[in-house]
Amino acid sequence: MSQKKDWMLPDFSEAPEAEPDRQYYFISQVKKLVRQRSGELGRPLKVFSLVVGCQMNARDSEKLLGILEQAGYVQTDQEEDADLVIYNTCTVRENANQKVYGRLGHLNNLKKQNPELKIALCGCMMQEPHVVDAIKKSYRFVDLVFGTHNIYKLAELLYLRLITGQMVIEVWDGAAEIVEDLPVDRKYPFKSGVNIMFGCNNFCSYCIVPYVRGRERSRNPEDILREIRRLVSEGVVEVMLLGQNVNSYGKNLDTPVSFAELLRRIEQIEGLERIRFMTSHPKDLSDELIEVMRCSQKICRHFHLPLQSGSTRILERMNRRYTKEQFLEIVGKLKKAMPDLSLTTDIIVGFPGETEEDFLETMDVVRKARFDSAFTFIYSKRTGTPAASMEDQVPENEVKDRFDRLLALVQQIGQEESGRDAGTVQKVLVEEVNRQDECMVTGRLGNNVLVHFPGDASLIGTIIPVKLTESRGFYYLGEQITEEE
Ligand code: SAH
Ligand code: SF4
Ligand code: F3S
Repeated sequence: MSQKKDWMLPDFSEAPEAEPDRQYYFISQVKKLVRQRSGELGRPLKVFSLVVGCQMNARDSEKLLGILEQAGYVQTDQEEDADLVIYNTCTVRENANQKVYGRLGHLNNLKKQNPELKIALCGCMMQEPHVVDAIKKSYRFVDLVFGTHNIYKLAELLYLRLITGQMVIEVWDGAAEIVEDLPVDRKYPFKSGVNIMFGCNNFCSYCIVPYVRGRERSRNPEDILREIRRLVSEGVVEVMLLGQNVNSYGKNLDTPVSFAELLRRIEQIEGLERIRFMTSHPKDLSDELIEVMRCSQKICRHFHLPLQSGSTRILERMNRRYTKEQFLEIVGKLKKAMPDLSLTTDIIVGFPGETEEDFLETMDVVRKARFDSAFTFIYSKRTGTPAASMEDQVPENEVKDRFDRLLALVQQIGQEESGRDAGTVQKVLVEEVNRQDECMVTGRLGNNVLVHFPGDASLIGTIIPVKLTESRGFYYLGEQITEEE
């Protein structure tokens, strides 16, 4: 594992070697500095956090905020008020990168107004050497840069920045260890993401994730179960198990455990009511998993199964390792086992070499699989991936035309599929007071669809029966069912 460092290491001989003790030591060191500075300023030090990208990043940012909160920072949602700004970045498509560069100029202005301001950049984009080079060269006002493998070290790196006054850059090529038991600041009190694995070994030819998140590593089932039990004791009723390819969970553990088996064990946790997971790769989807899901009382009837393309020829060039027919077969099995299942997907349009015929194959799968919704993406060339050097990139106007046609079809089918549950009574996890009407609350069905119904804040975090009185396309209006009914 290589490390890139840009500073002379101060004497940290007092710091414990072992994790997480070492990080708790640095959290207390940062806390002393924060306390001193906020005493001088006569106000708390504030942190503003921005997170883009997938649920992995969202969960990572909860960990970053957990560390900072314990170190004495107070959160703010006003970037202008912040003394520390931390951006957790994504690089899966080029527009994600552009957004970050766009905001950096603004941060430079903020720093001129508030010399106290420190700027930290982390996450997937920072794993790319050309990004770090650009920051070193053109964005010298950035204070701290780290990657995806050392987020647990935030306190140590921030401390280093605060005592040296130098720009601190530490990006690792791979992960050293999975550090457990650091603080987390959860966004919702009643639901939480739970990492079950990190990284990805699939190397789909368009995708940068395996390069920026490293090789696949599964957490020990005992650590996962312990974390979920603790979450439940804190009031969490729903967990989302996170991994780039959850279906291959556990294959590389010393004692291999399948994803289906992990689900069985999680199901037994008393007090936990709902289990979700993301993302499944079709090539590793087992019959055992479908069976566990079918028999489960807790696993939500929602399956996100990325298609990417409906053309077997393109799927092969994408290195997805399934055919159009195999994908449709899995969809058939899932729907047969669970007729009420909500199925969603991701599709890329304009992969190099995609012809009109290939695209029509994708449209055909969309028609046959009848996804409840789909995230559609225009192919984005990622430097360093095999697809980036493929010839026959598709002209922009053709891609745009296909994208529009696909989106129209996806929306039409989504609309036709929506409203299936109108008139029925369903369990709803109440998530928040409705943003438009404060006499209403908003909750989520097991299949991830939103429902709005009369209620108040006291219902937040509870799972209650609601009659779906009216379908409004992509959401329902409903009424809470009281016990007498
Ligand atoms: N691990 C998940 C998703 C990872 S990224 C999976 O295997 O499905 C989320 C989605 O971004 C992908 O499903 C894919 O549709 C899209 N994506 C990834 N790389 C892309 C690229 N280079 N251009 C456009 N979309 C991309
Ligand atoms: Fe990317 Fe493929 Fe891994 Fe998903 S499975 S993260 S698309 S390489
Ligand atoms: Fe983006 Fe990294 Fe997730 S590249 S999609 S934030 S794993």
